[in-house]
Amino acid sequence: MTLVRSDSGFWPRESLLRLLAYAVWPPTEERALAVLADGSAAGAVSLYLAADGKDLAGLLRMRRTGRRSAEITHIAVVPERRRGGLGRAMIEELLQLERLDEVVAETDGDAVGFYRRCGFDVHSLGEQYPGVERFRCALRRRGQPAWASSGAKDGP
Ligand SMILES: CC(C)(COP(=O)(O)OP(=O)(O)OC[C@H]1O[C@@H](n2cnc3c(N)ncnc32)[C@H](O)[C@@H]1OP(=O)(O)O)[C@@H](O)C(=O)NCCC(=O)NCCS
Repeated sequence: MTLVRSDSGFWPRESLLRLLAYAVWPPTEERALAVLADGSAAGAVSLYLAADGKDLAGLLRMRRTGRRSAEITHIAVVPERRRGGLGRAMIEELLQLERLDEVVAETDGDAVGFYRRCGFDVHSLGEQYPGVERFRCALRRRGQPAWASSGAKDGP
């Protein structure tokens, strides 16, 4: 799996919107389109895509919140590839590519188990909408990051 920024290759917009729709509410391509448009206006937002051959397999959208920190605003894997390690691999690769020490995400009960399994600390934000509990998830990188000893320059 290679995670690439969405601006570094061509991807059919329909498959991108279909995939992003799994991670937005309501889960529609219209809402996904609005999210994408919002991101293109904000410089701190990046969209990463994971390819499976020539097919789109996963996406991760993030907003940088500090020099070494970011928020995952959206993450999605195509249904037929779920539970195969792609979601975790995308997060691990994001830490490397963006040289992050800390990543946070907010989610609901459906995906909180995923973040827990990926090593995030989870705390409940309570019932944010009627019948919907939300969670704040935070991952802090422990130990020396791989990129720190590579001689690479500071910053992404
Ligand atoms: C959440 C999502 C991105 C996870 O991707 P994935 O590729 O299936 O995740 P992985 O296979 O890397 O899973 C990593 C670990 O989390 C576990 N896991 C994955 N999804 C889980 C879930 N919904 N609940 C509990 N555990 C989960 C996996 O079993 C695996 O466990 P392991 O440590 O025993 O190996 C994917 O299910 C998805 O696209 N969901 C729809 C969109 C969504 O809900 N996005 C998040 C909110 S924006």
